[in-house]
Amino acid sequence: MKGIILAGGSGTRLAPSTHSINKHLLAVYDKPMIYYPLSVLMLGGIREIMIISTPEDQPRFRGLLGDGSSLGINLKYKEQAEPNGIPEALTLSQDFIGSDDVTLILGDNIFYGQGFTTILRNALNKHSNATVFGYRVKDPRRFGVVEFDENQKVKSIEEKPKNPKSDFAVTGLYIYDNKAASLAKNLKPSDRGELEITDLNREYLKRGELDVELLGRGFAWMDAGTHEALFEAAEFVKITQQRQGFKLACLEEIAYYLGYISQHELYRKGKSMEKNDYGQYLLEIAKRKYTKQYWDHTDQNPMLGMVK
Ligand code: TTP
Repeated sequence: MKGIILAGGSGTRLAPSTHSINKHLLAVYDKPMIYYPLSVLMLGGIREIMIISTPEDQPRFRGLLGDGSSLGINLKYKEQAEPNGIPEALTLSQDFIGSDDVTLILGDNIFYGQGFTTILRNALNKHSNATVFGYRVKDPRRFGVVEFDENQKVKSIEEKPKNPKSDFAVTGLYIYDNKAASLAKNLKPSDRGELEITDLNREYLKRGELDVELLGRGFAWMDAGTHEALFEAAEFVKITQQRQGFKLACLEEIAYYLGYISQHELYRKGKSMEKNDYGQYLLEIAKRKYTKQYWDHTDQNPMLGMVK
């Protein structure tokens, strides 16, 4: 399984903050936005990941995350010359995907909730043709909307419908089989001039190959694409972290739990940032002794089935 993070786009809704900084490098409270989707792929056990961004921003992502070796993963980078739409990520990454399946996540999406790692790994291990995640929202008209029949089978999927047939939005996390890139190649731009991921999902639906996993009411799914949403996401992260003392999307912590980096490497990383709270957190984990109860409560149990 390969992973792709889509971190291009124009970020117009976050202007002027995005005039000289890529949206996905802006902080969501105490870490760059891209840490959140990257943490999702890592928790899914995906270690080969392509980050797609604009030509001018690519060096900045490289500067932040390098080749991924300090996290025990393998990161590659690719330019998207113009924001031509989400499915273009798949055609741009065709060589990288090779003969594997692929999980695509939008760089401004944040997922958090008890049991998320299990749901994700189950979906990945299922090897279905295409799996998307549905989440109940108050105003579905802003999203791709999925409609079900009584057996929870997908009936329709529509992009930003005026009259939504359900309250379930499709989140920015998509798991596809190997034909996704060739299907994406045949898509035509929509009226707004972009290739639409909903059209790709509809193609899978037509073939009877689209599964939807629902994320229940205990879950938080946010995209941080507007000033209001970014502020709310930051508040959510701050409050959740302060209450429980666990950090969300702490990449080094996840790498350590999964056995990708050693205690010594974690400690060294903590030391390099010891003047701030993030570094102190890493140092604290590196010094802590783990119990089974601790693993069970972090929802990051490294014993969960890994994905090939
Ligand atoms: P959007 O939020 O739809 O677009 P945007 O990020 O360009 O923002 P705005 O609408 O404010 O101009 O994109 C969803 C995600 O997908 C976001 O993380 C950026 C990414 N994206 C790309 O990387 N390439 C693209 O061609 C598109 C359309 C989006």
